Amino acid sequence: MKRALTPGTFDPITSGHLDIITRAAQLFDEVVVAVAASAGKRPLFTLEERTALVEEVVAPLSNVRVKPFTGMLVDFARQEGAQVVIKGLRAITDFEYEFQQAALNIQLDGSAETMFIMSPPEYMYLSSSVVREIASLGGPVGRFVPPCVEAALRAKFA
Ligand code: COA
Repeated sequence: MKRALTPGTFDPITSGHLDIITRAAQLFDEVVVAVAASAGKRPLFTLEERTALVEEVVAPLSNVRVKPFTGMLVDFARQEGAQVVIKGLRAITDFEYEFQQAALNIQLDGSAETMFIMSPPEYMYLSSSVVREIASLGGPVGRFVPPCVEAALRAKFA
C-alpha cells in the first residue's frame, strides 16, 4: 500500500490544491491531506473550519482522507504511515522554498521522501492569500475555489 501525504495550511483550499490532491490520488493507493495548524501564519479560517472545507471538497475522492496536525510534518507523516510527501510546484519561484523544506525534512527524518507535482498553467498564479484578498474586497472567487469555499469566504467577509 503506497500512501502519500499532501500537506498545507489550506487557508482556504483552492482549485489548485484540489488539482494536486486529485492527481496524487490517481498515483497512490491512499492520500492523507494534512491540514497544518500553521499558527504563525495567523490563518483566516480556524483549523476546524479549514479541515471541514477540505473534507467537503475531497469527499468525491474515495481514497483520500483529511487530518489536521499541529507538530512537525515528518512526525505526522511517520505517524500516518505515509512514504511520500507530495507538494505542488506552481512557478520557478516555488522551487527554492520547496527545495529548502524538502532538504530540511530529510535532515530531520532520513526516510522523509518529497515528490513534486507541477501545477497546470491555469493554477500557476493561484494562492490562498490572493483568493482571500479578492474575497475581502468583494471580488468574485468562483473561478479559483470550489463552491463551498466561495460560500465560506462570503460568510467570513459579510
Ligand atoms: N495551488 C494553489 N495554491 C498553492 C498550491 C497549489 N497547488 N501550492 C501551494 N499553494 C499556496 C498555498 O495556498 C499558500 O498560499 P498563501 O501563502 O498565499 O496562503 C502558499 O502557496 C504556500 O503553500 P505551502 O508551501 O503549501 O505552505 P503552507 O503554509 O500552506 O504549508 C507546510 C506548509 C504546512 C507544509 C509546512 O509549513 C510544514 O511542514 N509545517 C509543519 C511544521 C514543520 O514540520 N516545519 C518544518 C518544515 S521544514
